[in-house]
Amino acid sequence: MKIAVLGHGTVGSGVCEILWNKKSEVSSAAGNPLELGYVLDIKEPEGVPYSEKFKKDFSAVLSDPEVGIVAECIGGLEPAYSYIKAALENGKSAVTSNKELVAEKGAELLSIARAHNVNFLFEASVGGGIPLIRPLYSAMNAAGITEIAGILNGTTNYILTKMFRFGEDYSSALSGAQKLGYAERDPSADVLGWDSCRKISILSSLVWGKTLKPSEIPTEGIDMITAEDVKTAEQCGFSIKLLARAKILENGKIFAKVSPALVGSDSPLAAVNDVFNAVLVKAETTGEVLFYGKGAGKMPTASSVIADIIECAKTEGSIKSVFWEDGAQTAAEKDSVSERYFIRTDSDVSALLPDAEKLFDFVYITSPLSASEISVLEEKINEHGKLLSKIPLFE
Ligand code: HSE
Repeated sequence: MKIAVLGHGTVGSGVCEILWNKKSEVSSAAGNPLELGYVLDIKEPEGVPYSEKFKKDFSAVLSDPEVGIVAECIGGLEPAYSYIKAALENGKSAVTSNKELVAEKGAELLSIARAHNVNFLFEASVGGGIPLIRPLYSAMNAAGITEIAGILNGTTNYILTKMFRFGEDYSSALSGAQKLGYAERDPSADVLGWDSCRKISILSSLVWGKTLKPSEIPTEGIDMITAEDVKTAEQCGFSIKLLARAKILENGKIFAKVSPALVGSDSPLAAVNDVFNAVLVKAETTGEVLFYGKGAGKMPTASSVIADIIECAKTEGSIKSVFWEDGAQTAAEKDSVSERYFIRTDSDVSALLPDAEKLFDFVYITSPLSASEISVLEEKINEHGKLLSKIPLFE
């Protein structure tokens, strides 16, 4: 069976290298001879041994009946969406590392795959090299998952680690993440939290069975975090991490959000540094389960794409795709969850915070507050002085 790799960027080139250099191992794992059939890219091949496989026109891939699996590593919505849709409709399975595509179009593509008796798999779209999607969907399917909290973006975790542990400045930390192939083409998707938002949207949809659109998830990035926040938080026994969280409430709605959060030093998430991701899953039967590994980068992510290729080849002719319904799910009302907040101000606002714990001068941990309550408090503090930071605690 021929594999077509769409996109020869960071991840796509890793997938090609594995298919080319480890053809016999991959074929033997799949129980089916697999070979790199095509590489679709607008760029000319440079210094690769499989340069004769390059094509610029997707119709060559689509019209070749020997192509059984398309591995999409282009990123973004178009042309990735049109290519995958066409592949599935033409009876070819598709795998992807593209989180934007899965978050926005996952339900539709899963349903097209079902209708054509092929698979659509996306292990590489969340958590890079961590086997996460399949275990959540299969091993924990009946566990009664109630909550997911994760560090889902390698770039921002790398930047936070380099800046605040090693004193690098922001632009040098970001350029390190870009050189290592961690960052998105437009790194604001990482820094502003959108990448984490897409990933928690995928996990929520997968675990609770209906699409939770990224646009339903309140999202903040790491752009407002200062060295002073990190230093003060550390003095109080916390680390600051960009967390993506989702939980199912008693009314069946999903509360989800992406924001920096204070993580206590006793939490396993506090020790997750550099490009590593970790996902803490709480379920009724299992209690807490932790997934940990490299969340970005060429070979870890390519390894997850290859795992999906092998799965598709092994299950040819039967549907093993994960699945969720195409009905959109509305997120829980913003005030349905209350959280404690770490507050830093430029003056003494103790009188406004009768229930807060004072950590240092001008540094407090509030009692649990809803989103509206923290906004009101922010306004009041700013009438007296200035609120310098407000970061929720992960508890
Ligand atoms: N930019 C993403 C990250 C790549 O840093 O996590 C992996 O999805």
